[in-house]
Amino acid sequence: MQIIIEKMTKVHLEQIKDILEEQFDTFWNASVLEKELENPLSTYIVAICEGKVVGYAGLWQPIDEGHITNIVTQKNKRKNGIATKMLEELIKIAKYKKLKCVTLEVNIHNEDAIRLYKKFQFEEVGKRPKYYNNTDDALIMTKKLEGENR
Ligand SMILES: CC(C)(COP(=O)(O)OP(=O)(O)OC[C@H]1O[C@@H](n2cnc3c(N)ncnc32)[C@H](O)[C@@H]1OP(=O)(O)O)[C@@H](O)C(=O)NCCC(=O)NCCS
Repeated sequence: MQIIIEKMTKVHLEQIKDILEEQFDTFWNASVLEKELENPLSTYIVAICEGKVVGYAGLWQPIDEGHITNIVTQKNKRKNGIATKMLEELIKIAKYKKLKCVTLEVNIHNEDAIRLYKKFQFEEVGKRPKYYNNTDDALIMTKKLEGENR
């Protein structure tokens, strides 16, 4: 499966708007993503397969640290290495921007995502109790970038 990573634009969003919630889980909706595209502190990327968006991910950098806001692969395209490619790209961008580290929150029950982050040497640094829907805890995971080859 050939995957191309591109910077997300409104054109990509227009293409996936109608299938966003159904195909990518209810991980954000089009209007939130639309606002994020105008945020100068955010960078969004998409994974393209055969001309169609099959994943998207975002990095927010308020200061000299990065925060992965979201990483989602289209449901029927999961387990093909798409999120791995997107995460590689976000880490490359974070290194290029000379960010000290990249942090994220993940639902403690989201085993697939946690495994993905551990593969990239993200470490568990804390928990936010009842962060999701006031029930599930969030795991805070960080990958330090300082000292890594840039
Ligand atoms: C978590 C999520 C982003 C992973 O996306 P993905 O594209 O399936 O991820 P990848 O394919 O890169 O990696 C996932 C698994 O597929 C495996 N895989 C990768 N390429 C593969 C291939 N060609 N054949 C079979 N398996 C493969 C990987 O090894 C990995 O498994 P492992 O962790 O057991 O080693 C996806 O499940 C998702 O969108 N979930 C909903 C949104 C979400 O929870 N996001 C995280 C928010 S914090």
